Amino acid sequence: MCGIVGFIGAEEAAPILLDGLARLEYRGYDSAGLAVYSPEDGLKVVKAKGRLRVLSDIVEGGKSIRGAVGLGHTRWATHGEPSDVNAHPHVGMSGRVAVVHNGIIENFAQIKEFLESKGVRFVSQTDTEVVAQLLEYYYRGDIMEAVTKVLHRIEGAYALGILCADCPDQLIAARKDSPLILGCGDGFSFLASDVTAFLKYTREVCYLEDGEIAVLTREGIQVYSHPYLQPVEKERHHVDWEVSAAEKGGYEHFMAKEIMEQPKAFRDTVFPRIQNGRVALEELRLSASYLREIDKIYIIACGSSYHVGMVAKYILEKLLRKPVEVTLASEFRYCDPLVTHRTLCLVISQSGETIDTLAALREAKRLGGRILSIVNVVGSSIARESDDVLYTWAGPEIAVATTKAYSTQLAVIYLIALRFAELLDTIGAVEYAALVEELLTLPSKMERVLENREAIQYYASIYFNHESIFFIGRNIDYAIGLEGSLKLKEISYIHSEAYAAGELKHGTISLIQPGTLVVALASCVPLFDKLVSNVVEVKSRGADVLGLTVESRGEIFQKTVDHVITVPDTHPMLLPSLDVIPMQLFAYYVALMRGCDIDKPRNLAKSVTVE
Ligand code: AGP
Repeated sequence: MCGIVGFIGAEEAAPILLDGLARLEYRGYDSAGLAVYSPEDGLKVVKAKGRLRVLSDIVEGGKSIRGAVGLGHTRWATHGEPSDVNAHPHVGMSGRVAVVHNGIIENFAQIKEFLESKGVRFVSQTDTEVVAQLLEYYYRGDIMEAVTKVLHRIEGAYALGILCADCPDQLIAARKDSPLILGCGDGFSFLASDVTAFLKYTREVCYLEDGEIAVLTREGIQVYSHPYLQPVEKERHHVDWEVSAAEKGGYEHFMAKEIMEQPKAFRDTVFPRIQNGRVALEELRLSASYLREIDKIYIIACGSSYHVGMVAKYILEKLLRKPVEVTLASEFRYCDPLVTHRTLCLVISQSGETIDTLAALREAKRLGGRILSIVNVVGSSIARESDDVLYTWAGPEIAVATTKAYSTQLAVIYLIALRFAELLDTIGAVEYAALVEELLTLPSKMERVLENREAIQYYASIYFNHESIFFIGRNIDYAIGLEGSLKLKEISYIHSEAYAAGELKHGTISLIQPGTLVVALASCVPLFDKLVSNVVEVKSRGADVLGLTVESRGEIFQKTVDHVITVPDTHPMLLPSLDVIPMQLFAYYVALMRGCDIDKPRNLAKSVTVE
């Protein structure tokens, strides 16, 4: 969703803002803009529809728009089409206040009507312009007073950056339910939607909480509570991420780099948490007696994180013998969920800012559930609002289509399953030891799967022109099929569906015709024969079948399918970590051959911060 960056310092702001916006491009956007102030030129705003490059060309890489304080924005359209005029920053009628915004102002129509009745003329169709106009309406020489009045009046979600030409030695930031992070430097300050925007300049950050207002100056950052403007002492955090981790490092796409980084990300997430052959989750404060008391585990997430939840259900139910319900966060909020103080809610999110997941977390908490989250972004809203957090150590994930975050989320599920099973005494010592041992071999097995990428590229070259692709599998293979299908849809725009193989006969098989591609996942050995029967059914209706199975079944599967991809054998519960890689690579190569914008697929945003 929209990307925000603000800078105040001694250097020219525009090139720094453009660089920051480039690092936020992955969030998804359709237009971009800058507002920069200098005593000579006053407040200058430049906006352009399209890629950041268009804006950058207009301002000559930042050289033609002078000043050492400013705001930048990449817009992902919600209210009003992508256009120059709807792009941010927005300014009030007198051109005194510039505003950038991420989120949705839900009551913008009423405010607009009110302001229009007072003679204010609007130029855009956006909800954000009401914030700029309302600020000028309330402004009587004290910008903080105007900001507090505006925040009192607006409803919805927002991360706001504000620059007032009458007080150009400061930027103002405010947030509610949308991410905003503050960067503290020596002689400069930043605000941004994501730390990657300013990581090059500083790693010292503060997290702005809902209902707080920050004043950024060259000397530092002061945070106040809303509405009484009481100063708030903020803790500073140091961000460990390397700048290079958020760069392509020689790869054509971030997605390719992140696929290849999976063995390392898995190691970083798992190995430090295994000590003397046992899973040690020191971050967790869940006791055996608490776990015995819970009567249900509710998994809440969106998109790929939800697919991790689907895998988790199979693993947790098998190992813990407790019922596990997996639900889409966007549905959870409105389904009157059965959560009590005996429910453990497992919330999964890469960004930690997905608005549906955050809202579901709050609802689960309100109902008395205990929240354990699995999050990649340290200090994100979901991490901060959870009772316990287990971080995935995937590093920054830039490509919209998640790969390494998904793999590390799975890794944390294995750790949780083992630790909880040990606490509940639902696992035998032999199985526990075998699983831990196998867990430690997974990264090198993942490397072997990655080494086989040319074969997958070849299959992609055969099938990239298909317009409809089905993924079938049973049990955990079905859950992986869901993820494989989502990856393909997201980046290659091919229509695709994932089906539990046994369910095909109940309707979907009518769509199979000569030449339809079916990706058949058959790595779940106990169900191998059943899956082979399903493959025979689709083959006899003319489907082309690309199979996936474990090495020990490769030869036999080859007799039924057109082509087969194999992954090393491992413990059945750990197979998802190997199976998902060919699915990611297949989607990647298909999208590459179709000439798609892989890292920034159409209509998608990395972090979905509006409902
Ligand atoms: C995955 O490739 C997607 N881009 C998307 O489904 C994503 O997993 C979903 O939006 C959830 O995001 P989160 O993990 O940051 O909460």
